[in-house]
Amino acid sequence: MTVIHRMQSPEELAAAATEYFLEVARESIEARGMASIALAGGTTPRPTYERIAAALPVSSLDPLAFYVFWGDERCVPPDDPMSNYRMAHGSWLGASVIPGDQIHPLRCEGEAKRGAAEYEEILRAHFPGREWPRFDLIFLGLGSDGHTASLFPGSQLIDEDRRWVAAEFAESIGGWRATLTPMAINAARNVAFLVEGKEKSEAVRRVIVGEHDPSHWPAQIVEPSEGQLHWFLDEAAAILL
Ligand code: 6PG
Repeated sequence: MTVIHRMQSPEELAAAATEYFLEVARESIEARGMASIALAGGTTPRPTYERIAAALPVSSLDPLAFYVFWGDERCVPPDDPMSNYRMAHGSWLGASVIPGDQIHPLRCEGEAKRGAAEYEEILRAHFPGREWPRFDLIFLGLGSDGHTASLFPGSQLIDEDRRWVAAEFAESIGGWRATLTPMAINAARNVAFLVEGKEKSEAVRRVIVGEHDPSHWPAQIVEPSEGQLHWFLDEAAAILL
């Protein structure tokens, strides 16, 4: 099932995404005693992470029940301004009481492919005995070129059917990235895109209602096999729908 939430403003988007996060976390913890979350990078999620940081301490949710991962990472040190870990740490996790050994940055600086393989081992330890990781929630962003996580147009990873995490040199950005693979994303219980701004409106239209062409619009590959897909859009990003 796909649900599209059209919000009037980025602020409303962040508020709605935060409420959704709390709702999914509550259900996951009640049902399974934990909530396993994979975070998106980039800039869009920051206001949502800041709101989660404020909301969690006053919610009834046990911070010890949270296990935090990343859906992708730029292969830079964790203190690099480009780091997705650094963005989430600065906007939420650095001030949270979630135990440090339950927060798992994706370290792929240096040898990116080894970093991806090591992260996959961390995930396999967290999701023992599974063919694919069953995250309770994966947050995703969307690039204006239709990429999501670090699955870029023309990527060989679109058809990856064995690895949970993989690294690739992204020609379009001239750098190494590590990312959850499509089948790892699609095994999640819940996937939520957070997208704002007019510059994303064409990609939103192409991905949601355009002709199926995931090699050119990789975010189209996100179709949870036994889960829900939510889009949190502001009016500017949704304007062509
Ligand atoms: C990354 C992200 C990427 C991001 C989109 C949107 O590492 O950059 O994971 O997939 O979500 O590029 O980025 P913005 O939110 O900055 O527009």
